[in-house]
Amino acid sequence: MNVIDSFVENWGNLRGGAAAIAIIAIAAFIASLGLLVHWTGGTAFAWLHLMYLPIVLSAALFRIPGGIAAALAAGLVIGPFMPLYVLEEIPQQTSNWMIRTGLFLLIGTFTGIIFTWLTAQFDSLKKAHEELSQSHIELRSAQMELIQAAKLESIGRLAAGVAHEVKNPLAIIQLGVNFLDTTLSCDQDLKEVLDEMDRAVKRADYIVKGLVDFSRSDELELKTQNLNPIIENALNLVGHELRKGQVTLETRLDTFISPVAADRNKIQQVFINLFMNAVQAMEGGGKLTVTTAQKELSRNDIALFSAMKQPFSVGSSAVMVEITDTGHGIPENKLDKLFDPFFTTKPVGKGTGLGLSISRKIIELHDAMIDIRNREEGGVVVKLLFKTNQGSAS
Ligand SMILES: Nc1ncnc2c1ncn2[C@@H]1O[C@H](COP(=O)(O)OP(=O)(O)OP(=O)(O)O)[C@@H](O)[C@H]1O
Ligand SMILES: [Mg+2]
Repeated sequence: MNVIDSFVENWGNLRGGAAAIAIIAIAAFIASLGLLVHWTGGTAFAWLHLMYLPIVLSAALFRIPGGIAAALAAGLVIGPFMPLYVLEEIPQQTSNWMIRTGLFLLIGTFTGIIFTWLTAQFDSLKKAHEELSQSHIELRSAQMELIQAAKLESIGRLAAGVAHEVKNPLAIIQLGVNFLDTTLSCDQDLKEVLDEMDRAVKRADYIVKGLVDFSRSDELELKTQNLNPIIENALNLVGHELRKGQVTLETRLDTFISPVAADRNKIQQVFINLFMNAVQAMEGGGKLTVTTAQKELSRNDIALFSAMKQPFSVGSSAVMVEITDTGHGIPENKLDKLFDPFFTTKPVGKGTGLGLSISRKIIELHDAMIDIRNREEGGVVVKLLFKTNQGSAS
C-alpha cells in the first residue's frame, strides 16, 4: 500500500503519535500564518485568507471538533495583534477581528460536518465493496461446484449404464470359471490360470459394484443413531490393516454427541474408505487420530467446507468427526481432483479411485459435509459435519 492509499485509509482515524504530529503541524501552521498576517498589515489584508487552510485541514482530520478548535486557535492567534495595530495606527477594528473569527468558526464547523458525512459515505462504500468481493468469491466457488456437480452427474449416469451392461457378462464369466475349476481341477497349470482369471473377474466385479454404489442414488435407510459405534465398528474392520501398516490409533470419541440421522452401512463404508486412505498414505507406519465432538457452528467452521449446497447455518448444532493421519499428504495440485471418480494415485490393483467420490455422494445424501486438506504438520485431516436431530440447521 503506498503512502496516498494509507493516508486515504486512515485520514479520518488518526490515533496516538500520528494524531499528535498532525495537531502540532496544524498548530505550527496557524502560528506561522499569524506571524505572516501580523507582518503583512493585519487582519484587513488578503494574507489572512490563508488561515482557512489549516482550519479545513484540521476539520478534515478531526471533523467538527478539529474544525472548531483550529478556528478558535486562528482567531486567538490574530487577536493579540489587535492592540498593536491600534498603537501603530493601522486601521483595524475589533468588529473586523470578530467577524473574521466568526467566519473561521463557520467554515471550520461546516467543513467538519462535510467531512463527517464523507467519512461515513467512504466507510459504507468500503463495507459494500468488501461484501461485494466476498460474494464474488462465493459466487465463483459456487460456479465451480456447479460445473463439478454437472460433470459428476454425467459421469455417474454413464457409469451406471456401463456397470449394468457389464454386470451380467461378468457373472457369466465367473460361473464359467467356477465350472471349469471344478471340472478341470487335475491340471496344475490350468488351475493357476483359472485362479488368475477368478481374481481378475472378482476385481472387475468389485469395480462394477463400486460404480453401481456410486450411481445408485437416494436409497438411504436413515435411522437416528450415535456415530461413535459406527466409527468403532469401522475401526474394528480395518484393525488388521492398521496393525499390518504399523499404524497407531488414537480415538477421542465424545460420549455426549447428539444422535444423527444416518444410514449405518453407507456411513460405515465412508469411514472405512477414509481410514484405508489414511493407512495407505502412511507407508512405514504413522498415527491415525479419530475424534468426534459436538459443535455449535461458527462462521469459520462452516467456511471450512466449500459445498455447493450449504445445509448448515451459523449457531446450529452439529457433530464434527475429524480423521487425521501423519502420512505423505496430498500434492496441492491434486486437491481439487480428490472427489473425481477414478482419480487415484495408487498403483493399478490397489485403488479404483472411487472411494472418495462415493463417500462424498453418501455424505451429501445425508445433508452432511466433507472437507479434506493437508495439515501444516504433515499428513491429512478429513473433517465431516453432520446435522444433529435437535439442531436448528435447515
Ligand atoms: N489421507 C490421505 N493421504 C494422502 N492422500 C490421500 C488421502 N486420502 C485420499 N488421498 C488421495 O486421494 C486419492 C483418491 O482417493 P479415493 O479414496 O477416492 O481413491 P483410492 O483410495 O485411490 O481408491 P479406492 O478408494 O477406490 O481404493 C488417493 O489415490 C490418494 O492419492
Ligand atoms: Mg480410497
